[in-house]
Amino acid sequence: MSYLKGLAFASIILGAAALDAEEITSKYFGNDAAWYRDRIPLFESSSSDIQDVYYYRWNVFRAHQRDLGAEGYISTEFLNDVSWQVQPWALLIDAANFHLREGRWCRDRRFKEDYANFLYGPNGNPYQFSESMADGVWQGYLVDGVADDATAHLDAMQDVFKGWNTTAMSTGGYDTAKFLYWIQPLTDATEYTIASIDASGGSDGFTGGNAFRPSINSYQYANALAISNLAKLKGDTDVADSYQKQAEAIKQTVQDTLWNSTFEHFIDRFKVDNEHVKYWDFIRGRELVGYVPWTHDLPDNTEEYAQAWKHLLDSEKFAGKKGLRTNEPSYEYYMKQYRYEGDSRECQWNGPAWPYQITQVLTALGNLLDHYNTTSLVTKTDYTNLLLQYAQLHHNPDQDGALNLEEDYDPETGRPIVGLARSPHYFHSGFVDLVLSGFVGLRARPDDTLEINSLADPASITYFRAERIPYHGHDIAIQWDAKGTHYGTTGLIIEIDNKVVSKSPILTRLTVPLPRQSPPPTRRPIAVSIQLNSTLPPKASVSVPNADTEKVHAAIDGRVWFFPEPSIANGWDTPAGNGSEVWFEIDFTSATNTASAELAFFADDTQGFDVPDTYSIQTRSGDSWTEVEGVVYGDLVANGITSVLWDAVDVERVRVLFVPKEGVKVRLVEFKVFRS
Ligand SMILES: *[C@@H]1O[C@H](CO)[C@@H](O)[C@H](O)[C@H]1NC(C)=O
Ligand SMILES: *[C@@H]1O[C@H](CO)[C@@H](O)[C@H](O)[C@H]1NC(C)=O
Ligand SMILES: *[C@@H]1O[C@H](CO)[C@@H](O)[C@H](O)[C@H]1NC(C)=O
Ligand SMILES: *[C@@H]1O[C@H](CO)[C@@H](O)[C@H](O)[C@H]1NC(C)=O
Ligand SMILES: *[C@@H]1O[C@H](CO)[C@@H](O)[C@H](O)[C@H]1NC(C)=O
Repeated sequence: MSYLKGLAFASIILGAAALDAEEITSKYFGNDAAWYRDRIPLFESSSSDIQDVYYYRWNVFRAHQRDLGAEGYISTEFLNDVSWQVQPWALLIDAANFHLREGRWCRDRRFKEDYANFLYGPNGNPYQFSESMADGVWQGYLVDGVADDATAHLDAMQDVFKGWNTTAMSTGGYDTAKFLYWIQPLTDATEYTIASIDASGGSDGFTGGNAFRPSINSYQYANALAISNLAKLKGDTDVADSYQKQAEAIKQTVQDTLWNSTFEHFIDRFKVDNEHVKYWDFIRGRELVGYVPWTHDLPDNTEEYAQAWKHLLDSEKFAGKKGLRTNEPSYEYYMKQYRYEGDSRECQWNGPAWPYQITQVLTALGNLLDHYNTTSLVTKTDYTNLLLQYAQLHHNPDQDGALNLEEDYDPETGRPIVGLARSPHYFHSGFVDLVLSGFVGLRARPDDTLEINSLADPASITYFRAERIPYHGHDIAIQWDAKGTHYGTTGLIIEIDNKVVSKSPILTRLTVPLPRQSPPPTRRPIAVSIQLNSTLPPKASVSVPNADTEKVHAAIDGRVWFFPEPSIANGWDTPAGNGSEVWFEIDFTSATNTASAELAFFADDTQGFDVPDTYSIQTRSGDSWTEVEGVVYGDLVANGITSVLWDAVDVERVRVLFVPKEGVKVRLVEFKVFRS
């Protein structure tokens, strides 16, 4: 605290206003602030919606970090288990590019590094969905500048890339006659597109509808470029040249064959050939996916291709009142609902607004505004307005405007369409990346240059400041104050490691030379308590008879969040307190080194949960339980982390004991035990 105050004082002397990390993280994260304090860049803006959602999205990021124990962390798409995830990890690679692009701004590099190791390791599953994982790793490198971490995956990236060249998969692959990749829309994580609905004659569209899509081909373009760039870093010119050529070939073919000049848009062509649709015919309408080529900088900088952007803001085309439509109202089956879970509508891509694709389009628009210059059809004002509209979509009108991002939305009303039990705080999109690389404008680069080009609209955004942004081993701050009334200095200011290095009276592009340095080393404590499979050790048990086995197991399954929605309750609940002591035990089944623990307790007045008054930790090696030696008990924290340390000891079992408050339940979200 006093150290931080000292820093703030120092920067006032330097003429810059620093944000108060302590105050901001406690405002947004309550008792869980400690997790965020040193991990996230701070951000404030005259647009409070964008600011609030920025912090909410870090909460979503944190909640979706699943600790796998020895395998480190991965990011999940759903908080709850879903039947189509890869077990036991709960892996779904379709969201990986978003996860990596969000994670690249986390000051704790562990999350994106562990995740990349997992995605390219023996337990990954690279063909479950279309993917741009190599691009995600490359985007991470652009921010942290650590070559060795990114190039470590070069061989695996090439293997995965080659795998997409197959003609043997039924859900995606390469067409050797057309030199293009194709994908089943469901395997593109976008069921019920024009291709899949029309291939069924309008009767369905969940599966089928294989098509040459702008998405998969742009992803492979981006993956090829990422591989080429990483190979260059490693000095492997053969691989670099080969993948550079493949990227160029994909780009040329996409432009030559997926650009439909009648629609002035990149659209699918059918791979499927049946009684309803013909191989190689174009689909009959525009889809939002037609902007994905710009997400990955594929199209040439020409006036012709730029025409696609005039559809974006047209209320008869993509622009819904509350969100971007995935295809246009002119399509015969626009918004026709085909699939339900019970009475609830299921996921479809024939009109609904999807944060997933809104993110891709905003990234694409950011690229267009930053380094394409052949159109003024869209502007920074549009970027700012669309980002704001997207921010507002995070507020759930069915929950009094609470921040709770669900799967997809009615583009006219902004109400969730798919807000099922599995859907709260859904993580298949980005926002932090849009704020930092777009709105604030840190355009991450491979060379030793810091480049800032904010896409905020200076007419409506009177101030913003982002600081503690990790970049090439430095801390960057970027500040804008239109009138000088908020921070005391008018204009744009760039700081590197707390020193002002560049200024401009207007919101314009600035570049500063910046030699890279190594970021701080990553700490990787390994939780020995974690078990993903409730039938295998370590095993959890409790003193309360007939407790739900899966709920008990949930307290050692590596998932921590404190969201209050009952459908995503996470952990084991005690009965209401009656004065008797309860315990929660982890049986390692063999001697295991232990030295500390983190307890996550949920609290919610209206649901009747609180932390206990006191707790203790006991271990057992032989016959009897004893309190750990040298123990230092941290204060009990509700909806945050309670930390305990003890003298390292090898034990077979460890347990936490506590007495729930009278009439009140305790929910143990997670009991993590670490070795020394
Ligand atoms: C859990 O482990 C059991 C026993 O090894 C195995 O049969 C089961 O498939 C595993 N479950 C998951 C979800 O991996
Ligand atoms: C994929 O197939 C294309 C067309 O045959 C070829 O040019 C390319 O080299 C292949 N890529 C890999 C990695 O095998
Ligand atoms: C664009 O696609 C439509 C089919 O949806 C087709 O009728 C039209 O000919 C295509 N335009 C061009 C220039 O190929
Ligand atoms: C776009 O930028 C390029 C490269 O800086 C420049 O040569 C060209 O004249 C610009 N075109 C327009 C229309 O401004
Ligand atoms: C008191 O609570 C404990 C643990 O929750 C339970 O096992 C026990 O049956 C309760 N006792 C009474 C008298 O209700």
